[in-house]
Amino acid sequence: MSLISYKNHELYIEEMPLQRIADEYGTPCYVYSKQTIATNWHAYYDALQQSGHAFKINYAVKANSNINILKLLAQMGAGFDVVSGGEIERVLACGAKAKDIVFAGVGKTSAEIARALDLGIYSFHIESEAELLRINDIAQTKNKIAPIAFRVNPNVAANTHAYISTGTKENKFGVDYTKAIDLYLLAKSLSNIKIIGITSHIGSQITSMDPFLSAIDQLLVIIEQLQQHGIILEYIDIGGGLGIRYKDETPPTPQEYVSAVCNKLKDSKLEIHIEPGRSIVANAGLLLTTVEYLKTTGSNHFAIVDAAMNDLMRPALYQSYHDIVAVHESQQSLPEKYAQGFAIVGPICESGDFFALQIKRLLNIKSGDLLAIKDCGAYGFSMSSNYNTRPRCAEVLVNGTQATLIRRRETLEQLLENEQPHDKYAISS
Ligand code: LLP
Repeated sequence: MSLISYKNHELYIEEMPLQRIADEYGTPCYVYSKQTIATNWHAYYDALQQSGHAFKINYAVKANSNINILKLLAQMGAGFDVVSGGEIERVLACGAKAKDIVFAGVGKTSAEIARALDLGIYSFHIESEAELLRINDIAQTKNKIAPIAFRVNPNVAANTHAYISTGTKENKFGVDYTKAIDLYLLAKSLSNIKIIGITSHIGSQITSMDPFLSAIDQLLVIIEQLQQHGIILEYIDIGGGLGIRYKDETPPTPQEYVSAVCNKLKDSKLEIHIEPGRSIVANAGLLLTTVEYLKTTGSNHFAIVDAAMNDLMRPALYQSYHDIVAVHESQQSLPEKYAQGFAIVGPICESGDFFALQIKRLLNIKSGDLLAIKDCGAYGFSMSSNYNTRPRCAEVLVNGTQATLIRRRETLEQLLENEQPHDKYAISS
């Protein structure tokens, strides 16, 4: 059930009119529904609890890393999948513990590894032999033991956009499944490594169970071979990746996903870990934007809005579809001259700066109208930038009749601050 709906032709998120948010905080602005995040979380959590399996849900911080959202998830029992030192600090800032963190990513720096070891994170998800050796070396100098799992690349096609497919042998991610055993044996021989798990993440916005189940099959083969070598794991982590409905996709629900995964792992004693991101936050968020101008060039009608690709880059990067609706629902049909609908575009100086281009939107709109770009609670703000020297926008969290500003709009002063020349930072050759 969506908590973004019309009441008397005015769009609300939960019990809050979006017009009121625009009046108070301005546009562009991300707005999130707290109850939707909680509902999405519980869909996974309750299903896993009912399965009787031991489990852990490590929310993928990259999807939406606002510390207020992380805090909400931590309160509901989340662990966290991070991919940088920055994300580690965000998780700590939300009040969660280092023991709730798994650290993935192909390029962990020595400084990030050292910090994670000092904090005592739950597990390093290792993506190469070189990384394994580096982690062992750093752990040795600190006299610590690093808990690890290998991220295995199972060579499974996720049938999703090429940029977000991560589990085939052409991708940079994980270790080749044919080399996994050798790497585990190498890890076993190292003094400062403790093997605790196995993990795989094959991609994002996956809309059928088959790729997930094929990946698990590959992991089960490896787990069995490891047992024969006396390597006993504590957990199997199957990553994130479950898709949502942006337009007409029909992905499995979290309940269906959990039930299929648990069925596949019914004979396994391992703790089941998952790392959902998108399916927890995407449909909880929208980007509120104002129409600046209407413009016709050639045969195209454009609505130019005050949000841009720097605020939401998914359409530019992946040609992704997002539903766009008017905050005040028009009672009249579209004037004849606009019958083909509008391309919705931003002010940035690139033709890729669009929210809708090929698929025109049949909206009866004029300058000054408010629009809501839907389903962008995941990979929306977290991928935003300052391109064209645009301050990143505000974020607001709504709970029932209450709205809280959870990120202030950036100021131009903040943007220019780091560019002030300073003798302190000068060097000569
Ligand atoms: N675990 C790992 C190791 C990941 O790399 C990712 C996402 C996840 C979990 C969470 O996947 P999810 O449940 O959100 O699908 N920017 C792209 C998505 C990139 C996903 C990267 N990895 C987009 O906007 O579609």
